Amino acid sequence: MNSGTTVDSITIRQPDDWHVHLRDGAMLAAVLPFTAAQFARGLIMPNLVPPVTTVEAATAYRRRILGARPLDSGFEPLMSCYLTDHSDPDEIETGYQEGVWIGAKLYPAGATTNAHHGVTDIGAITPVLDRMERIGMPLLVHGESTDPAVDVFDREAVFMETTLVPLLNRFQGLKVVIEHATTEETVDLVRAYAPRVGATITPHHLMINRTSLFQGGLHPHLYCLPIAKREHHRLALRRAATSGEGCFFAGTDTAPHLKGAKESSCGCAGVFAAATALQSYAQVFDEDGALDRLEAFMSLNGAAFYGLAPNGATIRLERRPGRVHPTVAGGEGEGVVFRGGEELPWAVGRAQS
Ligand code: DOR
Ligand code: ZN
Repeated sequence: MNSGTTVDSITIRQPDDWHVHLRDGAMLAAVLPFTAAQFARGLIMPNLVPPVTTVEAATAYRRRILGARPLDSGFEPLMSCYLTDHSDPDEIETGYQEGVWIGAKLYPAGATTNAHHGVTDIGAITPVLDRMERIGMPLLVHGESTDPAVDVFDREAVFMETTLVPLLNRFQGLKVVIEHATTEETVDLVRAYAPRVGATITPHHLMINRTSLFQGGLHPHLYCLPIAKREHHRLALRRAATSGEGCFFAGTDTAPHLKGAKESSCGCAGVFAAATALQSYAQVFDEDGALDRLEAFMSLNGAAFYGLAPNGATIRLERRPGRVHPTVAGGEGEGVVFRGGEELPWAVGRAQS
């Protein structure tokens, strides 16, 4: 529907969230409906306590997610496994060949929330990476240096230079997703190695920069890892997302934490973006005159990267100011929603099959 040159609504194939933390237990039950309302499929991150490292654990977790879905939801969880120094190539391959998981996540040990069981030395997982390269299984990377001497705003850039580029050059057939890309250099790197390398981009990294964290006071609910960078990086991310290039796709990195754990003397990292993700992505594409490329980024590019068909259902987005509730009750507390309570210019309709 057009009024003048302004589009008032847009219908796209239902999107997938290629990076989502659903947690477990009461938090899972509280947050899953928000992801399931917008996305047909989600690639579920494995950083539970304990992490999802085995076929058995991933199968059981998938069952808990299915059990927590709203009754009318067909949301499909796509699983990932968590790599450790002790990951077994046979187990990784079995899970992939049996369709239990579609990728393996590399968390450098200690890089972020529940990453302490992660990989301490890339050399330790050489046999796993060899196997993944051979079977075409994607490696999903949290790309930040864990060297405490490296400035927090430089950790992504240092990881790319010192770890990822050598890894890509050593495993020249390995498919890699750089998760939640935050820098201009990362975007350039992805383009240089596409199509075997792709990147997810979050709604918040398209909307905030590092100054936003401190604007008028400290905003703990905008703190996530990798942390938001300078404005020129945000603009580069927007150009990448809205370009339509197949190597960039949506991954919200929605990462709910209880409010008290964020508003704390040592607050944890994670932005709870699920309930406002699609509204935010639509706003970004609209602002940048790229609504015609929203479907590629949200619903086509990621599926193609993973060798999956796009969803058949569609979802309608409307230019209709609306607000999302600022908090979500989650077990023993509540989570604070990214942009919750603010007036958002775009609203999301129901998915149609
Ligand atoms: O901010 C983040 N939160 N970054 C991550 O990589 C993990 C996530 C979480 O699980 O809370
Ligand atoms: Zn994440």
